[in-house]
Amino acid sequence: MNENPFEYRLLASGDNFIDREREMKIITECAKSGQNITIYSPRRYGKSSLIMESFLRLGEDIPTVYVDFNRVNSVSDLADRVVSGTAGSVFSSFEKGISMVKDTLLSLRPSFTPHENGSVSVSLDMVKTERDLEKALHFPQIMAEKKDIKIVVAMDEFQRINILNGNRLERLLRSVIQEQDRVTYIFSGSQVNMLREIFENGDRPFFQSTKVMKLGKLPIKPFKEYIMSSFEKTGLELDEGTVHEILELTEGHPMRTKELCFELWNQRRAGEQTVSVKDLLDVLITNDLYLEDTWNHINSVLQRRTLEALAHREKPHSHTTIEEYGLKSNSHVQRTMKSLERNGILYEGEIVDPFLRLWIKRRTN
Ligand SMILES: Nc1ncnc2c1ncn2[C@@H]1O[C@H](COP(=O)(O)OP(=O)(O)O)[C@@H](O)[C@H]1O
Ligand SMILES: [Mg+2]
Repeated sequence: MNENPFEYRLLASGDNFIDREREMKIITECAKSGQNITIYSPRRYGKSSLIMESFLRLGEDIPTVYVDFNRVNSVSDLADRVVSGTAGSVFSSFEKGISMVKDTLLSLRPSFTPHENGSVSVSLDMVKTERDLEKALHFPQIMAEKKDIKIVVAMDEFQRINILNGNRLERLLRSVIQEQDRVTYIFSGSQVNMLREIFENGDRPFFQSTKVMKLGKLPIKPFKEYIMSSFEKTGLELDEGTVHEILELTEGHPMRTKELCFELWNQRRAGEQTVSVKDLLDVLITNDLYLEDTWNHINSVLQRRTLEALAHREKPHSHTTIEEYGLKSNSHVQRTMKSLERNGILYEGEIVDPFLRLWIKRRTN
């Protein structure tokens, strides 16, 4: 029995990783040259998958460290994660990693916890001052020098640094990183406005310090080929027209497209040939509690009306739309759209999640 090739809840990798050749090449080149890089896009476009897949392709010559800022809950936790990740990735034996941490960071009083999967995490007892933190954050560079190698450290959902210890941490991190010629940093995040603010505002420490890469949706051609061949490989039929219909409905959104394919594949596997893509999508949208929840969290009437207009593909700035949807004035529309962009519902003037768009459209039909 084949597994569903459209698993959309896990990061994509290996045979299930689609395209991103150009981005992968840039990341590989940056890893080798030491050029730091920032990747941004709305959530669920594939940033984390891209980072992990490029880590796999970098192979063993360039050890990689992945820090998910969604899980970092304090400054000293960040230090622990950077050190643990580096020790685990650079050394093939944990004994060696542990002894290196002990040698280098003894004053920070490290302790070690083994995990069931064989990895060991490091906890530093003494990250009290900026000097301590600096020491810990230099660990990747020190290891890279020792072993005469390069290292890549990814900091995913990096805009959350604002919540940790805003300005001071940002300044410290920037100055530490600047001195690290053997470590390449990848910063990425889904809160596009916040991330751009960090890297594109002249008053901020990270201003123009990285190469900025905006990640778009997956290109249609390889996406289509992946969908066709995945059905074919698992012995199921799918005609080209249906693939086009799927991609049109989901607007090629990486995760949502796979989600719809996932359901279709299950149907076909169960021998159900006649169910239409539209009906499937309808069921998916009806059962997706996240959509209703998102809507319920929007308290402003103007925001709701603007979304309704956008869901119907009206031009929100046009005079007739403003009249018809009661959007007040052009400057109201501008302000409303800005705040919807800030909370990630809109991106470049459009509703990010195609399912949300269809859900809103349906309730106002
Ligand atoms: N290049 C890709 N190939 C295949 N699936 C992908 C790709 N990029 C994203 N996806 C799908 O979209 C989902 C969301 O991707 P993820 O990497 O978590 O996005 P982000 O980090 O931008 O929020 C993944 O679980 C995966 O199923
Ligand atoms: Mg992610």
